[in-house]
Amino acid sequence: MKKVNLFLKTVLKKILPDKKSERELKSLAKKVLLIAKREAKKYKADAMIVGSITRNTWLPEKKEFDIFILFPKELTINELEEYGLKIGKEIVRKMKGSFTLKYAQHPYLSAKINDVEVDIVPCYKIKDTTELKSAVDRTPFHVKYLQKHLKKTQANEVRLLKKFLKSHNLYGADAKVQGFSGYLCELLIIKYKSFLNLLKAAVKWKLQEIIDLEGFYKKSEYSELKRIFRGQPLIVIDPTDKNRNVAAALSIENYFKFKKICKMFLENPCEETFFGKVNYMTDFEFSRTKLKRGTEILVICFKPPEVSPDILWPQLRKFAERIKSILEEKKYEFKVYGKDVYTDEKEIALVLIELEVFSLPNIQKIIGPPVFDERNSKAFLEAHKTPLIGPYVENGRWVVEIERKFKTAKEKIIDSLNKPVEILKAKGIPSYIADALAKGFKVMDSSEIEKLLKERKDVGIFFHSYFNKEKIV
Ligand code: CTP
Ligand code: MG
Repeated sequence: MKKVNLFLKTVLKKILPDKKSERELKSLAKKVLLIAKREAKKYKADAMIVGSITRNTWLPEKKEFDIFILFPKELTINELEEYGLKIGKEIVRKMKGSFTLKYAQHPYLSAKINDVEVDIVPCYKIKDTTELKSAVDRTPFHVKYLQKHLKKTQANEVRLLKKFLKSHNLYGADAKVQGFSGYLCELLIIKYKSFLNLLKAAVKWKLQEIIDLEGFYKKSEYSELKRIFRGQPLIVIDPTDKNRNVAAALSIENYFKFKKICKMFLENPCEETFFGKVNYMTDFEFSRTKLKRGTEILVICFKPPEVSPDILWPQLRKFAERIKSILEEKKYEFKVYGKDVYTDEKEIALVLIELEVFSLPNIQKIIGPPVFDERNSKAFLEAHKTPLIGPYVENGRWVVEIERKFKTAKEKIIDSLNKPVEILKAKGIPSYIADALAKGFKVMDSSEIEKLLKERKDVGIFFHSYFNKEKIV
């Protein structure tokens, strides 16, 4: 055990912010808070700093904090948004920063001040979370809860956990990562006291493990809880709101992945298991893998729409689902073996489709109704007046042979996507993706994919994770 602790100490040294940048960040927060409070007063509102900076649990590479403006709950939503933005703009002006508008449940201002990202978020000042009007109204309660329950000595345990998760691409509750939020990390450390203790407990977690710090629920209510949070692999009751699962965003895959990396680290606590290894697939490995698997790989490539990642990723995943269902429509006879999506959120969005049936012969057999089914027989024969061969009878059914419309999956994809944007949307392609496709797309086959892999390491990382799914138990 000693060895582990020693090792964690060396990790901590690497992931603690240096004193100077800590001082700078905190003094900036103080300044901004002062202005925010002054501006907020004009609207009978208050301001507070929230997030990891208030409990010394931020990672140095993420220079960011949030200022929440707490408005009286009598205000309408429109007033709240309007005043929130006004206060935000005033702060940015006084601090000589810049800003962009972002959208969560309400629009809010995301400012850049001295290379620090400062989100200025309006919310309602409520007495307790039963009066909740939107998700952000909870945040001030988180601050208070953590101030009381997260011990100073546990802050670095949280940092270790965040870094560990980040290295394995599990940090963040956003739609892209579907992992652990900062607040969830903090609650887990409160529960298990230290990073190592958490890991030891996590390897023993059962599916739908329930962590209820405040003891809101009796053991006899646990099966009901599991029903309420069905489909969610980990249930961490928000100590400030007993109706919320803080781990709701964690995907099932990531839950198992977390347990697995915990086990690996406990067995072999070293740099490689803590930080993970970034593997990527080269063009050469790709062509070898493809040959070995005997499948066909296509990539639909386009420029991603300019929307927030929390919209982009789910739409991209839905798009991939839709492509699969189009290819697998009964009449086309293609079969998808697997699929995955990737985007750098700027230049490229990719849908990888692996096919077990990719190419089909020129002729296609259409099996019709039994000959004794008069009504359907008539309709079938009407519909196939000039087949290549037939109609003839086989096993008591009408059969015709026709020229196949789409001989390769690639042709079918191009035909389906090469349509005006309204048609794409009507076909169930998510709307921002449809807009982006209408501006152009490419369906790449192996040689083009190899070229892409030569040019872009990020695509190589994506390909590697698709083709090397990790053993999770
Ligand atoms: N929050 C939340 N649920 C989320 C995201 C955010 O409840 N899915 C709240 C939490 O109270 C959190 C605060 O919003 O503390 C600020 O969000 P964020 O900056 O994303 O998290 P931090 O806790 O500050 O962690 P990090 O170190 O990653 O910034
Ligand atoms: Mg933060």
